Amino acid sequence: MILLTRTSALKAYHLTVTPERIDIQAAQPAGLFYGIQTLLQLLPVEIFQATPATNVTWTVPCLTIEDHPRFTWRGMHLDTGRHFMPKAFIKKYIDLLALHKFNRFHWHLTEDQGWRIEIKQYPKLTEVGAWRKETLIGHAGENPARYDGQRHGGFYTQDDIRDIVAYARERFVTVMPEIEMPGHSQAAIAAYPELGVTDKSLEAWTQWGVSDNILNADEATITFYQNILTEVMVLFDSEFIHIGGDEAPKKQWQASDAVQTRIKELGLANEHELQSWFIKQMDRFLADHDRRLVGWDEILEGGLAPGATVMSWRGEAGGIAAAQAGHDVIMTPTSHTYLDYYQADPQHEPLAIGGFLPLEKVYSYDPVPTALTEEQARHILGVQGQVWTEYIPTPEHAEYMAFPRACALAEVAWTPVKQKNFTDFQQRLRQHVQRLAHLNVNFRPLD
Ligand code: ACM
Repeated sequence: MILLTRTSALKAYHLTVTPERIDIQAAQPAGLFYGIQTLLQLLPVEIFQATPATNVTWTVPCLTIEDHPRFTWRGMHLDTGRHFMPKAFIKKYIDLLALHKFNRFHWHLTEDQGWRIEIKQYPKLTEVGAWRKETLIGHAGENPARYDGQRHGGFYTQDDIRDIVAYARERFVTVMPEIEMPGHSQAAIAAYPELGVTDKSLEAWTQWGVSDNILNADEATITFYQNILTEVMVLFDSEFIHIGGDEAPKKQWQASDAVQTRIKELGLANEHELQSWFIKQMDRFLADHDRRLVGWDEILEGGLAPGATVMSWRGEAGGIAAAQAGHDVIMTPTSHTYLDYYQADPQHEPLAIGGFLPLEKVYSYDPVPTALTEEQARHILGVQGQVWTEYIPTPEHAEYMAFPRACALAEVAWTPVKQKNFTDFQQRLRQHVQRLAHLNVNFRPLD
């Protein structure tokens, strides 16, 4: 007999296995769900087969577990802008997140290279912006550049999104959308040239890197993006909405008389303050709708918007500064959480963006910087793994990059530091990858 009970005063769940019965108690439905995930992991790995074996005895050891997560934000990100990923894969990814007790899916939906979310008021965003005529072959550093000549694209309809958000909610995963602004917006400018700074006609970008093309800061552009956010807020129930804010080159703003006039008109000192002003318009708009803005750490430059939560990706300095200023922070540093980096010797790995982030380094991460006081450390909501897809064209490849490193990150997000032990993790991982194999996950084989 398996008994699931709601009880108050439990931080997550309490699992007891006796010869008579299995008891899972939790204050919240999510806690019961996590208790069940743990129970599944106590059963033989064959429980994860699509058609469970009949020649296996389903036994669970007698035990008592009291468990709760270290962080409230246990996230995984996926970039569907650089490469469109089919809806079925998004669901599989969410399943895998839930299995590892992650509770946030950060869905990167817009990029220079593709706009992936249907917006009813602005249909050209997907009619035009969801498609690029070809894609770079090999690494962006190669000279001369070569292209595949293949049209690439796709987008999620609003029905797709509602379906995915509901699917995730059933698994206690909140989906946070990211709509990039003012940089990483070439596909949007290609669809609606009036959003841009120059008169140059644009297409969705076919290269990797940081495009110079950036949104202007006209009132009409602010309204356009707030209208997008209005549709986004209907589709997504996440309190947090990500507005990007990273890698917004100021070159076009510096060169444009119209933008320079706008900067003076607004009484701002420079382009950094204009970026900050832009983000503040979104911060206020989201706050007026009871949502909270999240941005990459560049949003600190030129002054942080009052309600902003920061994703600290260029190391931890941005996160430390934000937490010291009383803002919430999610730790996402390239050094420990960029799962698009090589996980082993590049000579024997598929082409990746660069970097080097082996499993053990992910596992070793502590998202709370020692520079913070206890009070400031409370602003560290948690940690998140990033899967940027410039060099990850398929779901199988995304699985290869994410797993097993996401398994290590799951423990970073859940387990108290004093209980972490890499040797022990490695042993458990040998068994755990058998579960992933049963789930048809193309994980990178263990060394
Ligand atoms: C980022 O990697 N540009 C957030």
